[in-house]
Amino acid sequence: MDKFSIKGGKRLEGELAVSGSKNSALPLVMASILSDEVSTISNVPNLADIKSMILILEVLGTKTDLRGSVLRVEPSNCDKFEAPYDLVRKMRASVYALGALIGRCGKARVSFPGGCVIGPRPIDLHLKGLEELGVQIELEHGYIIAHADKLVGNDINLRGPHGPSVGATVNVMMAAVKAEGVTIIRDASCEPQIIELAAFLNSMGASINGAGTPLVTISGVKELHGAKHSVIPDRIETATYMIAAAITGGNILITNGSFERTEAVIEKLREAGVDIVEENGGVRVSASGGQLKPIDIRTAPYPGFPTDVQSQIMALTTIAEGISVITETVHPERFMHVSELNRMGADIKIEGNNAVVKGVPKLSGAPVMASELRGGAGLVLAGLAAENQTVVSRIYHIDRGYEDIEKKLAGVGADIERISD
Ligand code: EPZ
Repeated sequence: MDKFSIKGGKRLEGELAVSGSKNSALPLVMASILSDEVSTISNVPNLADIKSMILILEVLGTKTDLRGSVLRVEPSNCDKFEAPYDLVRKMRASVYALGALIGRCGKARVSFPGGCVIGPRPIDLHLKGLEELGVQIELEHGYIIAHADKLVGNDINLRGPHGPSVGATVNVMMAAVKAEGVTIIRDASCEPQIIELAAFLNSMGASINGAGTPLVTISGVKELHGAKHSVIPDRIETATYMIAAAITGGNILITNGSFERTEAVIEKLREAGVDIVEENGGVRVSASGGQLKPIDIRTAPYPGFPTDVQSQIMALTTIAEGISVITETVHPERFMHVSELNRMGADIKIEGNNAVVKGVPKLSGAPVMASELRGGAGLVLAGLAAENQTVVSRIYHIDRGYEDIEKKLAGVGADIERISD
């Protein structure tokens, strides 16, 4: 298992570009089987999760060809309908096979996703939405067995106890594009990846309106055709590098970072005393290296502060002057990184779904362990700011969502290297 060795205290300076968005690319890759024709998706990030999704397509009988960041999908022989446990257990987004297979052939056998380190992640809303389109669902031997003689449009509400569900919106959209009549999704997720999925499906011949708002209307069509699409730059990766600059008192330009899609993070970084401006279509982040101010954060579905940036911003608040309170409303138990940050000298206490962070003057380098993707990224950021050496182990979690993170950080002056066992 690889590790990152980081010698902290280097000020980041220079330019970097982020990769295509993982969470946008995943549904697009799966949606490409809704047609029999070839689709080409470009700016696909080279990540373990994308490879897992491609493997599922191949197991279903689809021919794929990934060259660099361009993925060609040829689904004409996609004639299987089972996503097995061994693949689904590796990545929860495998459950997108459910909506895509139902949309493609009216039947699916998909392993029920298991437990998750960031807390309970049920799929009741996915199943409810599909049932309301006329899908019959049974749970048997750890598998979801779904079939529909006919999909019929319906009025579906996808709000859950922690807000709208991204995954349920994806699954229902992929099935509803092929349903008879009109489907209305209320309380749909408004995340950018939903807008992107709708744009891709529309370019395949679907008729989807309102994506990016809580009310999405889908008029079903009989057939979809192949399409070409380029994935948008990753906003979570952008936010992570913005915080990397801020935590090291650095000055970097993220050349393709989206200002608009990272506004909630920008607002909080500015409140902490970091300068952020739009520059040449990218985002420039500069911090003086002086004392950061404490900030209170409440994660929320888009356009709120993303849960996927919670651990990274927490790393920043550990060295701000004063007390910051971080409330996690989307995945209320997503605090695995806290004990590791405390081992580096941070002072964080968990009270329910709140983290109370009392800023300390310095973090001190330590061996720490990543337990999940974003929590791992938070530890890397803490290592960049800490005195002496930090070794982050189990970085396969980080590799799931950050393409070449160590090369990108080293390119702007970080002292970070990958140690392979
Ligand atoms: C997506 O997961 C992202 N994954 C997650 O990013 C992200 O944390 C999450 O959205 C929230 O923004 C991908 O896009 C591949 P949800 P998803 O369904 O779709 C509850 C990362 O680090 N819920 O919007 O699984 C659920 O428990 C990953 O890249 C139900 O109650 O998230 C959670 O509290 C981690 N019932 C909330 O809704 C359901 O049927 C939001 O979950 C579904 C969800």
